Amino acid sequence: MDRFEIARNLRQLIELDRGFGVEFMPRSAQAAGGVVAPAPARAETVARAVVPAVGRSAASALQAPTVQAAPVRVASPSSTAAMAAPVARLIAPAAPPAGDSIAVIAAEVAACRACGLCSTRMNTVPGEGALRPELLFIGEGPGADEDTQGRPFVGVAGQLLDRMIGAMGLARAEVFIANVVKCRPPANRNPLPEEIAACLPFLHRQIAALAPKVICTLGNVPLRALFGAEQPGITSSRGKRLSWHGTVVIPTFHPSYLLRNEQAKKPAWEDLLTVLKELGREPPKRR
Ligand code: URA
Repeated sequence: MDRFEIARNLRQLIELDRGFGVEFMPRSAQAAGGVVAPAPARAETVARAVVPAVGRSAASALQAPTVQAAPVRVASPSSTAAMAAPVARLIAPAAPPAGDSIAVIAAEVAACRACGLCSTRMNTVPGEGALRPELLFIGEGPGADEDTQGRPFVGVAGQLLDRMIGAMGLARAEVFIANVVKCRPPANRNPLPEEIAACLPFLHRQIAALAPKVICTLGNVPLRALFGAEQPGITSSRGKRLSWHGTVVIPTFHPSYLLRNEQAKKPAWEDLLTVLKELGREPPKRR
């Protein structure tokens, strides 16, 4: 790395740091106490490519109910079999059903009652974003804001994730954002192994349907959901380039962790630069 590249990386790090903090916000938004997500580039294209919660047609009707009154329909035979197995043995995904799509998966998620989380959820949160994304972010599970809105990463951690995506020179609608579990664990506790096991087939199917070039896992839960309980934790796994059935996985810290641990921002930014490199994209020039 020559000194120009070092200087450029440093500038980008500073940029990201500004992005992480309130200084990055337009003054009007700061005055209102709000945080602004970067406006999606190519909005028209994006609007068509995005699945808002489930998709615009039949699927959106499935997303709305507060309490699932729909008939019980447990995911798919492959999911049912998988539910009995411990998470560590679920690393190999079953073949997705023929004709699978993000909307179909979201509709099944909306009707799912495979674990106890269905009894406390307000909404399922199947994930959203571009249907042919180069990049897939995977978080842990919905929090209170996500449960209320049926959308992933819309709370404080989501605002930071938006800034991270923006600092990479990408728009949120260009990527897909999913979670390991699609229903909120009560009081934001970590999802239990049996909840992860019940939900994981949905994530496997989403990965197959989206076919991203790169997956960026956020924190320990998605890392171990994909690679098994034996996978070293995020602190030692980050900075590594992993492969999940041929798809590159770059693990990084969860935005909630970054909010609490200032010192983790620098390595997180390095991870995001690694993601960009894997995508064959240049880091954005300083504005
Ligand atoms: N944290 C997550 O892991 N996922 C969300 O959707 C929101 C917060």
